[in-house]
Amino acid sequence: MRKVLITLALLVITALPVLATVGGGELTLKNEGGDVVFSHERHVVELEQACLACHPEPFTTIKQHKTVTMKAMETGASCGACHNGTKAFSVKDDCTKCHTK
Ligand code: HEC
Ligand code: HEC
Ligand code: HEC
Repeated sequence: MRKVLITLALLVITALPVLATVGGGELTLKNEGGDVVFSHERHVVELEQACLACHPEPFTTIKQHKTVTMKAMETGASCGACHNGTKAFSVKDDCTKCHTK
């Protein structure tokens, strides 16, 4: 009985990270300015952004991702739809807020 309980507890623990994934999870967008890690958890849970604010436009999946330039973001494309200095900090602000590597 004890063994069964321990096995069950382990199963629950190992399943947790999977259950806790929000939307597409943590995604790394590789680019020449340095990797950008986008957090669904941060945007959806803590900052209460709706899936529909980002899907299906401008974002789809990593596989179908359409590469955009910072110039395009400055005029509202991709992250720039919100990161414009009004809804959220601007793409022209501290680069290292997004480019962590
Ligand atoms: C603030 C913007 C934003 C919000 C809100 C958001 N997403 Fe995403 N999502 C992204 C970005 C960026 C990507 C990466 C794909 C791309 O760049 O086109 C992505 C990718 C995904 C993917 C594909 C992951 C992969 O590995 O390719 C899924 C599934 C997904 N999102 C589901 C959701 C769901 C469900 C919600 C709501 C609970 C949500 N998203 C909310 C921005 C967002
Ligand atoms: C709100 C988040 C964010 C901020 C702030 C940001 N970037 Fe980016 N940047 C991105 C993302 C995401 C990509 C990848 C775009 C893609 O692949 O579609 C990118 C791509 C790039 C690229 C490659 C594309 C291009 O335009 O040549 C360079 C270089 C770059 N960023 C430099 C910078 C610099 C310099 C700053 C500060 C002035 C900055 N970024 C601020 C998110 C950001
Ligand atoms: C639908 C609107 C929306 C879109 C699109 C969006 N964000 Fe955000 N993001 C926000 C808001 C709102 C905040 C919180 C306000 C602030 O920090 O200025 C935020 C905060 C952030 C933060 C700081 C998180 C923290 O820990 O405090 C990062 C990093 C970030 N976004 C990256 C991105 C990147 C990269 C993209 C594009 C792939 C993106 N965001 C697209 C709305 C958005």
